[in-house]
Amino acid sequence: MDEQLTDRFGRRIEYVRLSVTDRCDLRCFYCMPKGFRDFEEPAEWLTFDEIERLIGAFARLGTRRVRLTGGEPLVRRNLPELAARLTDVAGIEDLSMSTNATRLDKHAEALRAAGVARINVSLDTLRPEVFKQVTGGKLDKVISGLMAAKAAGYHPIKINMVVMKGVNEDEVEAMVDFCIEHDFTLRFIETMPVGDTGRNATSQYVDLQDVKARLAERFELLPGVMPGGGPARYVQVAGTDLRIGFITPISQHFCETCNRVRLAVDGTLYMCLGQEHSYDFKPLLRGGASDDELEAAIRAAIELKPERHEFIEKPDQVIRFMSMTGG
Ligand code: GTP
Ligand code: 5AD
Ligand code: SF4
Repeated sequence: MDEQLTDRFGRRIEYVRLSVTDRCDLRCFYCMPKGFRDFEEPAEWLTFDEIERLIGAFARLGTRRVRLTGGEPLVRRNLPELAARLTDVAGIEDLSMSTNATRLDKHAEALRAAGVARINVSLDTLRPEVFKQVTGGKLDKVISGLMAAKAAGYHPIKINMVVMKGVNEDEVEAMVDFCIEHDFTLRFIETMPVGDTGRNATSQYVDLQDVKARLAERFELLPGVMPGGGPARYVQVAGTDLRIGFITPISQHFCETCNRVRLAVDGTLYMCLGQEHSYDFKPLLRGGASDDELEAAIRAAIELKPERHEFIEKPDQVIRFMSMTGG
């Protein structure tokens, strides 16, 4: 591949997080309020043809990784078909998905057959009543989804746990034990003030440096590595196969190594999780733009990418809901 996408700060952009729907079958309070966009007309959504074409253009400019996100990606009808089409896009080497796992028992095998190579699962708690509080849903659906993904051959599966004061901070050790038992990789995430619903993020914030120190009292933590394209920094728990990743957008941000942009289902490309800079691709896709024009537009969009988020300077800045870009 001769072309590469580099932003104004010298960062190579090679990872597209693709939100295939903004809908979800759960209602995590920090992500999406009740009723949000439930009635939006799918005519606004990019079709599989449009997505495939746009990802093709990104791939010609050096994108190697695509992650399917939502909302909940498995709420989008025929998702395995889209996955298979993206697997076949020349240049895409790493197709992955972030999911809440509620529908994995039905879809894990089809996803694997379609070429989705890696799966990350959001799971903040192992207590059914806390799960109900946080998501409105049933924990046992997630656990059976996880087990189905494992049975379909997914390994390692990464569990994403947003650590929140007064919600699940006391479950860190239990989650470590759970992941050792089931051979999952565990990632702790600092809560970010994203969207109206993320307003509690500041009061619920837990500094993961403290969590790490707490774990170091019980476990020997060695430097670790893990395949992936995201911002997690890993340790290995001595004497076990467990790797733990720390995703620390607040206490130790990773913007200087940012390699990604986010495509929402309506064709808007968001340049940063914590900022509103965006570029609308739908008019080009629906207005007969040539491949060259699409590629030029991608370059122009990347020029808009800001240096970093401003969660700390502007914690009350209301950024679009997390469900539009899948984290
Ligand atoms: P791997 O390729 O497996 O490393 O996945 P990933 O970490 O890129 O993806 P995932 O969807 O599992 O994201 C995990 C968490 O990291 C989510 O809470 C995201 O919101 C957060 N995250 C991912 N990318 C960024 C980013 O660019 N900026 C910020 N602030 N958070 C991010
Ligand atoms: N802060 C941090 N992480 C979040 N996620 C969703 N909302 C937030 C937030 N406000 C996480 C989900 C999922 C990942 C894709 O993003 O828990 O694991
Ligand atoms: Fe990239 Fe923005 Fe995330 Fe920083 S906050 S890593 S610049 S997307």
